[in-house]
Amino acid sequence: MERDIDTGSAHSARIYDYIIGGKDHYPADREAGDAMCREWPALPVHMRANRDFMNRAVRHLAEEAGIRQFLDVGTGIPTSPNIHEIAQSVSPDARVVYVDNDPLVLALSQDLLNGTPAGRTAYVEADMRDPASILDAAELRATLDLTRPVALTVIAIVHFMMDEDDAVGIVRRLLDPLPSGSFLAMSIGTAEFAPDEVGRVAREYAARGMPMRLRTFAEAEEFFTGLELVEPGIVQVHKWRPDGTGTGTGTGTGTEVIRDEDIAMYGVVARKP
Ligand SMILES: C[S@@+](CC[C@H](N)C(=O)[O-])C[C@H]1O[C@@H](n2cnc3c(N)ncnc32)[C@H](O)[C@@H]1O
Repeated sequence: MERDIDTGSAHSARIYDYIIGGKDHYPADREAGDAMCREWPALPVHMRANRDFMNRAVRHLAEEAGIRQFLDVGTGIPTSPNIHEIAQSVSPDARVVYVDNDPLVLALSQDLLNGTPAGRTAYVEADMRDPASILDAAELRATLDLTRPVALTVIAIVHFMMDEDDAVGIVRRLLDPLPSGSFLAMSIGTAEFAPDEVGRVAREYAARGMPMRLRTFAEAEEFFTGLELVEPGIVQVHKWRPDGTGTGTGTGTGTEVIRDEDIAMYGVVARKP
């Protein structure tokens, strides 16, 4: 597997892992992450707040909505707690299918497969831009029962989808086979709260071959046409049901005071009627 990993160039999953305090990154990723943090010192706060949003959204879905099946697209490098750890702490029989296209995530995927005996987890290596390759994957079909509700989680990935990729259409195709009572949880990159700083970070990504498509509030809304937004609707990730805990990814955000201009991500949970 190592041979497929291009350690000479920075990669989005590894830059994120570096900035949130993980251990699976290479010098090129650290150089990129440091350059981005110089452009926008709030970047670590923003990224940890995104991860904390994901954790609160999954806990909400498991505890309040009774969801027992998750399909996570754009999983990233394993960072505890991962979705199965949160969902299975609520219900040990929870099932999670993880999807990513980064070879390093595949190489480390064993950490995503260590769930409870009563539950089940699986990993699918696939490109989100080909939703059929996800939905038709044998691992998904063997793990999830698509006649029962599933939460589709698409966290911090659609900013890597260009207009020609049609991210709204991709998410719609992933939701299509899921039954009524399923959920969509997303975080969606935006430059609306710190346009200059976030614009400069986006240029750093683009300079390393990772162009970024940041979205306005109105563009974020397009993902949720026909769905029922869970309160408080489309808000910056730190404003989505904050509970004061933070999960301690990286240096922890438990007591951190987060300013709106430090956050470049909308967070949303919505139900399929
Ligand atoms: C910023 S990380 C987010 C990780 C995790 N969802 C979180 O929010 O903590 C984005 C992830 O999306 C993955 N990714 C980017 N483009 C992708 C694509 N076209 N198909 C599948 N995964 C992709 C990257 O490899 C990376 O692991």
